[in-house]
Amino acid sequence: MNPSLLGEPRPMPVLTDVDLVGRDMCLGCHGQQLLGGRIPGSPPDWPPAPRLAPGEGSVMANYPDAESLIRLFRTGKRADGSAVRVMPFESLRETNETDLRALHLYLSGRQAS
Ligand code: HEC
Repeated sequence: MNPSLLGEPRPMPVLTDVDLVGRDMCLGCHGQQLLGGRIPGSPPDWPPAPRLAPGEGSVMANYPDAESLIRLFRTGKRADGSAVRVMPFESLRETNETDLRALHLYLSGRQAS
């Protein structure tokens, strides 16, 4: 083991938006362009993933501020109290607040392609 990896302060890892979205598998379900749709290979009773990218029909219209997205990740519920299905909130709920704020900025500002 390289001793320089131990006990030394290391710079904060740089969070890139794509890291977060890729690491937490948003892309796997919401699509490579985050346009949503049926999840390939998913059971027939799974709802389609909504569009996250900005534009017509984006579900991010329901998440105008970071707090609302943080609430979703902590509770697994929409503002009206209904449960969001399929998403792995057991792990997503552990996402730290800084990452969720970055995620919200990213999803709000992302240009549709
Ligand atoms: C295993 C597949 C899966 C993964 C991984 C996943 N999602 Fe989802 N997501 C869904 C599905 C399916 C829905 C629709 C659920 C429903 O209608 O009950 C959804 C719904 C949503 C919603 C809308 C909730 C609402 O108000 O209706 C948001 C926002 C969202 N996902 C963001 C994300 C983000 C950001 C990530 C990555 C950190 C992510 N999702 C990861 C499948 C997934």
